[in-house]
Amino acid sequence: KITREFINGLPKAELHLHLEGTLEPELKLELAKKNGIDIGQTTIEDVRKTYEYDSLASFLNVYYPGMAVLQTEDDFYQLAMAYLKHAKKDGVKHVEMFFDPQAHLTRGIPFDVFINGYYRACIDARAFNVDAHLIMCFLRDMSANYANEVLNMAKPYRNMILGVGLDSDEHHNPPLKFISPFSNAISSGYHTTMHADIDQVDSIDHIKQALEIINVERLDHGTNIVENQDLVDWVNQRNLGLTSCPLSNGFVTNDMKGKEIVELMEQGVKVSINSDDPAYFGGYIADNYEAIAKKYDLTAQQLVIFARNSFETSWISDFQKNTYL
Ligand code: ADE
Ligand code: ZN
Repeated sequence: KITREFINGLPKAELHLHLEGTLEPELKLELAKKNGIDIGQTTIEDVRKTYEYDSLASFLNVYYPGMAVLQTEDDFYQLAMAYLKHAKKDGVKHVEMFFDPQAHLTRGIPFDVFINGYYRACIDARAFNVDAHLIMCFLRDMSANYANEVLNMAKPYRNMILGVGLDSDEHHNPPLKFISPFSNAISSGYHTTMHADIDQVDSIDHIKQALEIINVERLDHGTNIVENQDLVDWVNQRNLGLTSCPLSNGFVTNDMKGKEIVELMEQGVKVSINSDDPAYFGGYIADNYEAIAKKYDLTAQQLVIFARNSFETSWISDFQKNTYL
């Protein structure tokens, strides 16, 4: 029987976490009041009631407007710090956190405001032994040109950003659309990953583009490869990481996809367990480990493999990896 103490005590890395997805109703309301922004609700219960969706699209319709409360560098710092403290309690030693520059730039927030707030939280988390890094995501429902502009804006902050990713609505927005910004990012030495959402209709095609043409180092979600043995073999040969998010899967498709996650793990694929948007999908990383362990009756040994996979597919140096493994 797996206990919560065992899960919390298991050293883990979190590799699929959207900072903007850690905005809890309490902080949203507090920042709305402080910044004088009308979000349409005035109580925590009412904000919580808006956190309801049955697809990625319906989630994104709550997610983006909610970011309006984030205005100052301190707001971004506070958001990231609240997550990092929670991660510490959950046994997270290392985290690579997504952020969405375009979700803030399009609201008139300058690049330096959010990057400095987020990065200061990464530095301060060292005091409680959480090793925190940032991954800059392009919004795939915006243009490739805009993604290239964002890449240019990030140049003065190159040393604060570990990698680039791709998120938001995948429908009609295939990986190939972003071949230019991604090849530029690779030339600049960024690590790369991309969302391959589980509810995508032409998922296998998209995954092939991401792996064979863009050459990403990880896939976020990506568990649809289970349908295609050639892709499973390819991913295994390259030791490529898949970052899965059981509770998020449950919201987007009514299925945690535990069967697929476990099957891939047993075939040797480096799948990890992560929280995606914990404030919106009902739980942080330890809640995700607990949910999949309970529902699929997993053993302690299987959870240890997921945790090992998270470090093995992280973007820390081999030297540092060996201190965790
Ligand atoms: N942005 C935040 N969370 C996301 C997800 N799960 N998929 C795509 N875009 C996202
Ligand atoms: Zn995600």
